[in-house]
Amino acid sequence: MSTFWSLYVTVLTLGTLFALTWLLLSTRKGQRSDVTDETVGHAFDGIEEYDNPLPKWWFWLFVATIIFSLGYLVLYPGLGNWKGIMPGYQDSSEFANGQSGWTGVHEWEKEMAKADARFGPIFAKYAAMPIEDVAREPQALKMGARLFASNCSVCHGSDAKGAYGFPNLTDQDWRWGGEPETIKTSIMNGRHGVMPAWSAVIGEQGVADVAAFVLTNLDGRALPQDIKADPVNGQKIFAANCVACHGPEAKGTPVMGAPDLTHPQAFIYGSSFAQLQQTIRYGRQGQMPAQAQLQGNDKVHLLAAYVYSLSHPEEETPTKAD
Ligand code: HEC
Ligand code: HEC
Repeated sequence: MSTFWSLYVTVLTLGTLFALTWLLLSTRKGQRSDVTDETVGHAFDGIEEYDNPLPKWWFWLFVATIIFSLGYLVLYPGLGNWKGIMPGYQDSSEFANGQSGWTGVHEWEKEMAKADARFGPIFAKYAAMPIEDVAREPQALKMGARLFASNCSVCHGSDAKGAYGFPNLTDQDWRWGGEPETIKTSIMNGRHGVMPAWSAVIGEQGVADVAAFVLTNLDGRALPQDIKADPVNGQKIFAANCVACHGPEAKGTPVMGAPDLTHPQAFIYGSSFAQLQQTIRYGRQGQMPAQAQLQGNDKVHLLAAYVYSLSHPEEETPTKAD
């Protein structure tokens, strides 16, 4: 904080406190100190006001709050750049971020350190196990579910079933692959799916034709009526432009994040004729944010196990044979 704003905050805060104290004391002057039956003289709706002083306990409570606030402002950082005299972590190199004394950041760091000390060993234990095995541990899955709820559900949904633009993580359709280690890589490093825009390359009719091909190729769905698009020509366009990423049978290429185009459930941008054209005309850029920095390896390992368990529910109950 600059010196100006520091002074501004300090003067404003202390000024308010002094003004309140002055108001309290000055309105007390000249008042009677005993309780009488006299009224101030006006009545409303049968209610009259006694001309009596503030009760003593009330007055002292007011004084006490002012003294408390002054004490608080001396101890804790509240007045501009004043750091307070409350001891912080200046003697602990762990929290040496150049600032001594109590700060909210220090308190937060302390809480985090406590949590790490408590849960760190549990995370580390699971991080040393293969993801498939962690996916069979009820305690690990509970922790993974909690991590998922707070970090992933905004996009993938609280049930992990996805939404428009965000893939379902509970089914067998994977854009980048469903192997345990692949799922972990997706979470750790993030993913960026790049579907190019095609309108400039194949033209508006080309977009309609290839969209018609993708649509009729999906479980042999029928093309909507009165649409002028030629799926046979679309197939040619597909063979020339799309197979490089989506594969010769349109079954997708996981290393590129190019999805299987034969499964309507796998589409995150919709599979109606209009939506397909939109996707092909303008392209798509789905982005999964990397979690390595935010969560670290051990938490991502648990998350990967949790995500893996969602599409492999039967593996939660192990049998002696495996
Ligand atoms: C450079 C590789 C590449 C090429 C070439 C390519 N695609 Fe894609 N396509 C992708 C990727 C990657 C995605 C996933 C984009 C995302 O997740 O945001 C995708 C997504 C799609 C989708 C959306 C699927 C969904 O989940 O909703 C459709 C439809 C599609 N492509 C059709 C085509 C057609 C038709 C062509 C040829 C005209 C084509 N693609 C060419 C890489 C490619
Ligand atoms: C900001 C939104 C967002 C958040 C938050 C997010 N994701 Fe994603 N995630 C995506 C998108 C978008 C994709 C698809 C990327 C693409 O187009 O290929 C994706 C893809 C994935 C995939 C790959 C799916 C596949 O089919 O291969 C996994 C696994 C995944 N996310 C797990 C997670 C986990 C676990 C978390 C929480 C730590 C998380 N995601 C948080 C948006 C998000």
